[in-house]
Amino acid sequence: MATTGTKSSRFDAADDELVKRAVEVRAHAYSPYSKILVGAALRAADGRIFTGCNVENASFGMTWCAERTAIVKAVSEGAREYTAMAITTSLPHALMPCGACRQVLFEFAPNLRIIVAGADGTRYETFLEDLLPEAFGPSDLSQ
Ligand code: THU
Repeated sequence: MATTGTKSSRFDAADDELVKRAVEVRAHAYSPYSKILVGAALRAADGRIFTGCNVENASFGMTWCAERTAIVKAVSEGAREYTAMAITTSLPHALMPCGACRQVLFEFAPNLRIIVAGADGTRYETFLEDLLPEAFGPSDLSQ
């Protein structure tokens, strides 16, 4: 599903930069099986940008999505607060993050702002809260 986000004109220069970084990192995607290239760029609250691409595996279930690559890189570099993520693909339409990625993003940024951009130039803004309502998360374990 690629069109559940809100078509928005509220994109600024910082968003443009984030999308650009997501497009750039997409070139590194390792996707010999699906042939779909995905790039993600995550802006941390301290201003740093962490990028990631999808990394497939001959054992298909071991595939890493671009979004999870980006957030794992960020966490391992000490950044745990984020303001936005941009996601781009080689597909013409904008691609929404998969369920596994939504859950992993929720751990650190329950209402992350997400910008999805298609190769056709479409751009949507959405929020994790809307993509993963009533989510299971850290608070469920703090009894
Ligand atoms: N993929 C992502 O990188 N992010 C998503 O949110 C959805 C799917 C990748 C994984 C795999 O390499 C390819 O797209 C097809 O599923």
